[in-house]
Amino acid sequence: MTTILDGKKCAEKRLELLKEEIGESGLYPRLATVIVGNDPASQMYVRMKHRACEQVGIGSVGIELPADTTTEAVLDAVRRLNADPDINGILVQLPLPKGIDTERIIDAISPAKDVDGYHPENMGLLFSGKPRFSSCTPKGIMTLLEEYQVPLTGARAAVVGRSIDVGRPMAALLLNADATVIICHSRTQDLAGELRRADILISAVGKAHFITPAMVKPGAVVIDVGINQLDGKLVGDVDFAAVSGIASAITPVPGGVGPMTIATLMENTFRAAKEHACGSAE
Ligand SMILES: NC(=O)c1ccc[n+]([C@@H]2O[C@H](COP(=O)([O-])OP(=O)(O)OC[C@H]3O[C@@H](n4cnc5c(N)ncnc54)[C@H](OP(=O)(O)O)[C@@H]3O)[C@@H](O)[C@H]2O)c1
Repeated sequence: MTTILDGKKCAEKRLELLKEEIGESGLYPRLATVIVGNDPASQMYVRMKHRACEQVGIGSVGIELPADTTTEAVLDAVRRLNADPDINGILVQLPLPKGIDTERIIDAISPAKDVDGYHPENMGLLFSGKPRFSSCTPKGIMTLLEEYQVPLTGARAAVVGRSIDVGRPMAALLLNADATVIICHSRTQDLAGELRRADILISAVGKAHFITPAMVKPGAVVIDVGINQLDGKLVGDVDFAAVSGIASAITPVPGGVGPMTIATLMENTFRAAKEHACGSAE
């Protein structure tokens, strides 16, 4: 029987625990979000993040900038948040509108407040096996795998996608957990052949029904990061109905990876607050 990896349930459990921990800590962590423009999906994600903050006892402030904002204006906002001692975590919602230099913005976020884990310093720590803030989606997937006791040591894991928010940090986390990791992308030859050898398959491509049964090893654990619209419905990258007959465990979309991403952002923000409180953050 195929196990459905219930990210919604796991995230709720994590958020309840976190709420208790925050309550007991005497700290009042604060997260600042920065959103540029009015992309409805980005607005929805930011609203969900603020709602989760409220649920666990994290204060949140939202900075909204118009779509025609310049890179300099976004940098100004980030620098002000870096300097604000009341702010522990900074999240700049991606993607930013065309014309804004995303790399400069990410590089400007103080690594000690970079709760999304995209800053090169945090990425470097992750890849050197000493993670501080790991990107929320991959870290959330690791938590979900742990919750369902999926064995990672020595397992063959294939990650499809090499973005800085999902594919690359996902591969680093799996490697840190002693999996044997392959990263696939649009230039990979014989993708299906590579994926069919994987005990754990993680797809972060952004194409509906991209992962078909012919790409999945019988009994594999399949993690679907993709968020796509198909015929007015939200679907992942994986042809869920067909692949769930082959996989031993699979995440649904929605209700799989998405809620884990938000729970991890809350955990990272609390971690930042604790580090700021004890003065270990620079
Ligand atoms: N659930 C969540 O919380 C969450 C969080 C973040 C993202 N997402 C979703 O996850 C998906 C991926 O996000 P992302 O930011 O990583 O996207 P991205 O930056 O667009 O990266 C997509 C990756 O897919 C690879 N790819 C594209 N076509 C391919 C093909 N035919 N064969 C193999 N690889 C192919 C690309 O390869 P190249 O590098 O060679 O171009 C790229 O590395 C999106 O649907 C996004 O909405 C969900």
